Amino acid sequence: MKNKFVLGIEGTAWNLSAAIIDRTDVIAEAESHYTPKEGGLHPRMAAQHHASEIGDLIRDVLAEGKEHGVDLSAVAFSQGPGFGPCLRTVATAARALSLALGIPLIGVNHCIAHIEVGRWICNAKDPVILYVSGGNSQVLSYRDGKYRIFGETLDIGIGNALDKFGRYAGFQHPGGPKIEEMAKNAKKYIPLPYVVKGMDFSFSGLTTAAKEALAHASLEDVCHSFQETAFAMLVEVTERALAHIGKDEVLLAGGVGANERLKEMLDLMCKDRGAKFYAPEKKFMCDNGIMIARTGLLMLESDATLSIKDSAVIPNYRPDDVDVTWI
Ligand code: ATP
Ligand code: FE2
Repeated sequence: MKNKFVLGIEGTAWNLSAAIIDRTDVIAEAESHYTPKEGGLHPRMAAQHHASEIGDLIRDVLAEGKEHGVDLSAVAFSQGPGFGPCLRTVATAARALSLALGIPLIGVNHCIAHIEVGRWICNAKDPVILYVSGGNSQVLSYRDGKYRIFGETLDIGIGNALDKFGRYAGFQHPGGPKIEEMAKNAKKYIPLPYVVKGMDFSFSGLTTAAKEALAHASLEDVCHSFQETAFAMLVEVTERALAHIGKDEVLLAGGVGANERLKEMLDLMCKDRGAKFYAPEKKFMCDNGIMIARTGLLMLESDATLSIKDSAVIPNYRPDDVDVTWI
């Protein structure tokens, strides 16, 4: 079989990135981050950042690919979920490339891309996935042609919750990594609302309570307590999914997966249950172009390509809307 090369372009929110991969390797990659000077992510500002950077970024990866003799087979882009203005900027570039090069266009679900890159890098077969990022928090697993969602947040994503609290505490966006640092110097745990309903969880009450707790507790203690409470909720639902479905692998995905304490808690739970725990290195947890290229390749090989007229972006694209044609 002829080796296939796929260009993947990611740009749902803060990270604009492009990568070329084949079945086994990453051939080329480039990225450019949008970091707000103050406040949270602004969709239009992020899209402007992407629009001004995307030309050079794609030129760079194509040039690097050419040095390695790449003949592109397809172009894949993140079709959703994400900020509408950002998605449209990336989709426009992907359509133009597909038309100019005469190669298939592939619309990738961003959540599924987080999962597929993790499965690839860690060589996980059929895991329960804890996907935790800024905008999303879900526990999923593959069954009968789809990634099914077994539990999810009823309000905001855990990353969003951390970033909101972080902003209130005076940290620049994103707050997640700074909260992790502060938590290391905590002296005690302060009880905060632990909200698991069935297989779902909620973080907005916890965020409000953590902000209020700052009036009478140290920032270090609140950061620690926020993490312990939120992560325990996530681990509880992941454990229950594992037990119900009877699988024996857990894969961590999404930007919040970079957190060492969360990894430690999941690892302990998996050891207790005799399950294998997989966490790819940070670069594959956070948004990246490789994840879009990898999922694009799987989709290309199972003929899940897109016509231009069906390539509209889907800002609230759910992973369980996708027919998984490649498993
Ligand atoms: P999605 O569209 O999947 O929601 P995203 O745009 O939120 O993606 P990601 O890179 O997947 O992007 O995740 C970013 C989030 O990860 C931010 O909320 C950030 O605070 C959080 N994060 C990054 N590193 C850490 C860390 N060490 N601890 C906790 N949270 C972290
Ligand atoms: Fe993401």
